[in-house]
Amino acid sequence: MEPGHYPFEETLKAIRAALPLNLANPKIGIVCGSGLSTLASHFTEKIEVPYDGLPGFVKSTVEGHKSAFAFGKLSGIPVVAMLGRFHPYEGYPMSKATYPIRVMKRLGVQSLLITNATGSLNPNIPVGTIVIIQDHLSLPSLTGMNPCLGPCIPPYPRFLPMSNAYSRRLRKLVFHAFYKLQTKLQMELPEIDSNTNTPYGAGPKIHPEAIQEGTYAYVSGPTYETPAEGRFLRNAGADVVGMSTIPEVIVAREEDMEVCVLSLVTNFVVIPQGYRSIREEVEAELAGNPLAAVQDAIVSHAEVLAVGKKKAELMRELIETVIPTI
Ligand code: 6GU
Repeated sequence: MEPGHYPFEETLKAIRAALPLNLANPKIGIVCGSGLSTLASHFTEKIEVPYDGLPGFVKSTVEGHKSAFAFGKLSGIPVVAMLGRFHPYEGYPMSKATYPIRVMKRLGVQSLLITNATGSLNPNIPVGTIVIIQDHLSLPSLTGMNPCLGPCIPPYPRFLPMSNAYSRRLRKLVFHAFYKLQTKLQMELPEIDSNTNTPYGAGPKIHPEAIQEGTYAYVSGPTYETPAEGRFLRNAGADVVGMSTIPEVIVAREEDMEVCVLSLVTNFVVIPQGYRSIREEVEAELAGNPLAAVQDAIVSHAEVLAVGKKKAELMRELIETVIPTI
């Protein structure tokens, strides 16, 4: 699909035909990542509009992803959520994978909250942490897989800045919302701050293992990283890695929406501290002193979905808490 040839009018007509007027102009959009679609079960006045049949849409093919927009009210505020997203690794061009983001803009969305499941590259960011993304590192979009490639049609800017992609205002609101939630849920703070390995001082603190800030590395997938690729991304400054979101962020910025990304850490990326050489193992065997067996660690999509499910409730409560403040 060439930019400028999106079937916006047809898509909007089909969506609006399914909606009452009071839900048709949401100002807040949410993209639900792997295992995070349960958010919509808390919508009131919910209406789902399947992607299937919407002009310009393709089908989401990934397990754990639904395939519909959900319109409704969350915390009393009209919102639209994408239950399931499209990824370039499914074989879709960037323009198709990001089309729903452009549609949300035309429905009236000004602020976009994007969720995803990620692998942690940072030993101080354990599984289960919600990471508020402050910056990204995107090898695909630096080197030719960028949704803005192609003819530039005004009013879009030809050269879009990315230095301010992650809204300070929204990030701050999310941390305020988390603090509110932490108080409400009486979440206990750990005695030791894992970032500094020292006990906490006095005063209000935000649970450092439950929510942190970090840099997201985007990779095209669908293969998970090798240990060397994981070390490479870590050394380059990334805290988490994933296969979604960044094309959506770029397009949302092109569409002049404010963006906030909430990443749920579902697993550690495999980055062994030391490599046990095969030569060493064989020589030890030949000397009659075999070394204890080592097992290569692997990541599985099932693990990713299981953590997503467990932590989806906290993510949902966080989003419900932040929405009225946006
Ligand atoms: Cl380990 N890698 C990537 N690329 N994406 C992920 C992941 C890992 N875990 C969840 N999503």
